[in-house]
Amino acid sequence: MLLLLYALYALSLSAALFRAGFRSRGAPSVPVAPRQPPKRLLIVGASGGTGRRLVEQALERGYSVTVLAREPSRLAIQHAQLSVVKGNVLDERSVDTAVSGQDAVLSALGHKRFFGPTRILSEGTRNILRAMERHDVGRFVCETSLGIGESAGRMGLVYTLFIVPMILPFYFWDKTRQERVIAASSAEWVIVRPGALTNGEKRGIRREDAGVGSFLWTVRISRADVAAFMLDQLTSDQYLRKAPGVSG
Ligand SMILES: NC(=O)c1ccc[n+]([C@@H]2O[C@H](COP(=O)([O-])OP(=O)(O)OC[C@H]3O[C@@H](n4cnc5c(N)ncnc54)[C@H](OP(=O)(O)O)[C@@H]3O)[C@@H](O)[C@H]2O)c1
Repeated sequence: MLLLLYALYALSLSAALFRAGFRSRGAPSVPVAPRQPPKRLLIVGASGGTGRRLVEQALERGYSVTVLAREPSRLAIQHAQLSVVKGNVLDERSVDTAVSGQDAVLSALGHKRFFGPTRILSEGTRNILRAMERHDVGRFVCETSLGIGESAGRMGLVYTLFIVPMILPFYFWDKTRQERVIAASSAEWVIVRPGALTNGEKRGIRREDAGVGSFLWTVRISRADVAAFMLDQLTSDQYLRKAPGVSG
């Protein structure tokens, strides 16, 4: 009986994540104003796994990079084209300072406060988008996850039945809010939904867009490949105002 109730909870949660996250079906298509290709980037979450790869690869591609970091020493990268704004995504003033003067923003924001309701992802993202609107910054590329919106269940059975319902229900719920905040914004956004992340080398994305992931097993991708895909979205309109899944 308990097992049945648990299975019902896990499947209902998956259905709720499907309904609450961004779904491309029926989303309005919004015209894009022509802009110069971005040169100056803000990277949020730069001291984290994906964020560090974003910074390294963005510098390799010749961008000028600013990062917003709570603890700049955790970044451990030094470069003439890299500057740091010390701050927190929940603090509107530091977000505003970091966004000012940029051409585009990439976010690999994440945290480990799994076991209680939180709004760090959604409120932090709202602050970024508000600042982008104030400073007329066009493009926003944001990493969320497979398992949200139309990709619900596509992290595989272990995630759908155990990891998400037992460990990540609040975290994933906030990701649905985060995606909705992005979809409702006037930015030129791309939501990137990776499978389970690894610290492996860049090998190239093997699958992208809708249909990525599996209801049975967990697909994986390296943070380095996610970073490369996110940077590609700065100059491509292929997934503009869409939420492609990616796997390696
Ligand atoms: N792990 C997986 O298998 C997996 C799968 C799919 C999607 N994802 C998602 O992918 C994203 C990136 O994951 P990751 O493991 O590469 O990153 P991560 O190592 O968890 O790094 C998260 C980053 O966010 C920053 N951050 C957290 N709270 C902040 C705040 N209030 N203000 C400013 N910065 C803040 C952290 O800074 P500090 O150094 O200051 O903490 C860190 O730089 C996350 O959203 C994650 O949920 C993960």
